This record gives sequence, C-alpha cells and structure tokens, in this order.
Amino acid sequence: MKILLLGSGGREHAFAWKISQSELCETLFIAPGNAGTSQHGKNVAIGVNDFEAIEEFVLANSIELVVVGPEDPLVNGIYDYFMAKEELKNVPVIGPSKVGAQLEGSKAFAKQFMVRHGIPTAAYGEFTIENLEEGFDFIDEQTTPIVLKADGLAAGKGVLIINEHGEAKDSLREMIEESKFGKASAKVVIEEFLKGIEFSVFVLTDGENYKILPEAKDYKRIGEGDKGLNTGGMGCVSPVPFVDRLMMKKVEERVIIPTIEGLKKDNIVYKGFLYIGFMCVDGEPFVIEYNCRMGDPETEIVLPRIKNDLVELLVAVGNGTLKEEEIEIDERACATVIVASGGYPEDYDKGKEIFGLSSVNRLETIVFHAGTKQVGEKILTNGGRVLAVSSYGKDIHEAVAKSNAVIEKIDFEGKYYRKDIGYEFR
Ligand code: AMP
Ligand code: GLY
Repeated sequence: MKILLLGSGGREHAFAWKISQSELCETLFIAPGNAGTSQHGKNVAIGVNDFEAIEEFVLANSIELVVVGPEDPLVNGIYDYFMAKEELKNVPVIGPSKVGAQLEGSKAFAKQFMVRHGIPTAAYGEFTIENLEEGFDFIDEQTTPIVLKADGLAAGKGVLIINEHGEAKDSLREMIEESKFGKASAKVVIEEFLKGIEFSVFVLTDGENYKILPEAKDYKRIGEGDKGLNTGGMGCVSPVPFVDRLMMKKVEERVIIPTIEGLKKDNIVYKGFLYIGFMCVDGEPFVIEYNCRMGDPETEIVLPRIKNDLVELLVAVGNGTLKEEEIEIDERACATVIVASGGYPEDYDKGKEIFGLSSVNRLETIVFHAGTKQVGEKILTNGGRVLAVSSYGKDIHEAVAKSNAVIEKIDFEGKYYRKDIGYEFR
C-alpha cells in the first residue's frame, strides 16, 4: 500500500523507520520529511498544513493511508477535510477529527471534557477578558505556586508556573490583555499545582477500542539535573520503573476507559494516537494534559518497543478492527538522548555539518534525525533538536550508556546533549 506520512521531526523519522519495515508498505512518502526520513521513503516538499497540496498529492499518487505526525494539521482539521471530499473520504487519516484534536488545541476544552467524564485532573478556572477580575480573585484564593496555561497551541511555551500572587496577576493580564502568547492566550486556564513525578501514556484507538502502548518519562529541561529552560524534550526512557501494574490499572480504569467512553458519549470522532501526560501524586495518577498525537521524542522509544507491524495496526484503526490486534512489547528498555544545537532552546545556528553518522554501530542503537537537512553528500543541522539517539538495553542504565557512547562519535559545531537522561533510574 502507498502511505503518506506528514511531519519532519524525530517523531516522523521513527514513524518512517517503523512503517517502512512493514510488509504492507509498498511506497512511503514523507511530507516534508528530513534527511533521516529519506532513508526510508521519498520526501516530498509539501507543508503539513497545505491541505490542497496534500489532497492533490494523495489523488495523483493513489495514497491509501495518511499518518499525521504533528498536532497542527489535526487541530486545523485535516481529518474533517478528507471526510468532506468524495474522492478522499475513503483514505483513512490516522489522527482525530478537528473536535477531537481540541483535547490538545484547547486546554479549557480538555478540562471541561475531564470534568464532564469524571477524569482525575487538577482543579481549575478559565478566564478571558470578560471575567478577568474574577481571574484575579481566583488567583488570590490559590496557594502558590500558581499554574497559568494559555488555552490554545503555543509551541509548548504557554504554561507558566509562578511563585507569587502579584506576579501571577501580572502574567494573567499580559496573557489576556497583551496577547503574550498571541491568540492562544485570549483564554487562560488557571490550575491547582500538582506536586509529584510526571510520566506519559500513549493510546492507539479506532474510536471503539484501544491499545495501550509502552509508557515513557521525558526530560524537558535543557540542563542536567532538570535545570534551566524548558525544551521540547531532551530525552526519554521506557519502561518507567514506578509505573507498575497497579499504576497502569489505575490509569486504565480512571483515565483511559473514561476518555474513550467520553469521546463516544460526546460523539467525537477519534481514530489515532492519544498522548496522556500524567502527574503521579502520592501514588495516584492525575491528567496534566492530552495531546492528540504521539510525543517527540517519546515516539523514538515507544515505536522501537512495539514488535507489531505498525501498518497492520494503523489499517485496523482505519477499519475499526483494532480489537482483533494484540500489542507485543519488546521486553528490553529503550532510551533516547537528544543531540541539540548549542544555544537551544534559545537562539542557535543552523547549517553545521554533522560528522560521524556513518561510524555508528546500528545493532542496538538507532540514530533518528530530528532537525537535519541533506545538501549534496553532506548532512547539516537544521533545527534546535538535531538527532534523537535511541538504544535498547537490558535496563535504562545500559540503554542510556549506549546512546551516550554513540553520541561521543558524532560531532558538529555546538553539539550539546544531556548525559544524565534517566538519572533517577540508573
Ligand atoms: P503542559 O503544556 O500542560 O504539558 O504543561 C507543561 C509542563 O508544566 C508539564 O509538563 C508540567 O511539568 C507542568 N505542569 C502543567 N500543569 C501542571 C500542574 N497542574 N501542576 C504542576 N505542574 C504542571
Ligand atoms: N515531548 C513532549 C511532546 O511531544 O509534547
């Protein structure tokens, strides 16, 4: 079958790597892709939000399955776009409908959904210019720290955690009145602070049934010891030692089942991946966020731990027959370590030549490209997060050590990585 994958990060390289291993995959196209995805298929220069160009490409190339990597096209309604067109509506799009994608696209929508369906999450209030004064009163009633979240998509930057009431009020005003995060912060969710340890669970659903994929813990801060600025993620590990059978049972009963049932009750079409971010508070799981897609870099460890033919699973999602599939998980641990451009997540240079990629022993390590670009024979840096180096190991320690050893052989000007990924579990 001919498959089109949308996106251009490490997540999409991992998808391309996994999809291309399937016997069902005849041709894989990636739009727009990166220097890594082109090892597994053909990159095409189409942007993920250019629905008309995607439509034209799908029809011209008889594409039979579209896999959506990032959230943007989902929140912009690519699923609905396909469903509304006679010639496209039989091409399955792996990803939720526009309303379903609001679980990520609007924090207020997600909170209302959780409250409606009794899913454990932090207490909250939502505020706009209409009830800004109530927002200030609400802040006065909170203990510190205070969590402020821009309602809309803000490229992972829209969450502020503030230690002082006055400062929280100033930030609320800036978000709403001065559009601190553009339109995304015209509405703000103010939330109770949850103290605990985070982990993420991934679910694949055809809207009726679901499969739970391997869980992960990611490391968001730029610096070792979880210090410094937030990033898109500097590495992650799976399995997560404290997410034992009992925790997974709580997650499934209290969150996954009510979420899938809630989507059905609300008539929200959802056929794709759901990423649930949790805070474990004294042994109890609370939902911090939903994302309507897989995580990046979590995909770079979750897919390597899935033994199934991924295309078979995705076809089952499209057909509504996921119930018949059995997920097989690799017993080994997997860790990924991000190699970033110096300066990230603030300003950084692009276009630096990457050396040493061919010296990597690939037996138990996979070098996924995140921000790279091929120019002639050279591979150049083309983003803040450049590579995601994933390794298997008998445990997290071994997996991380293997990735770190491989990263030592790779070089480019300004190369930076955290050597302490998975430190609590090593
Ligand atoms: P989000 O964009 O919702 O994932 O939030 C970004 C990060 O902010 C999360 O990964 C958490 O580390 C932190 N965070 C979000 N909400 C809360 C909360 N209610 N309590 C504590 N930390 C939070
Ligand atoms: N690694 C966090 C995310 O994909 O949202």
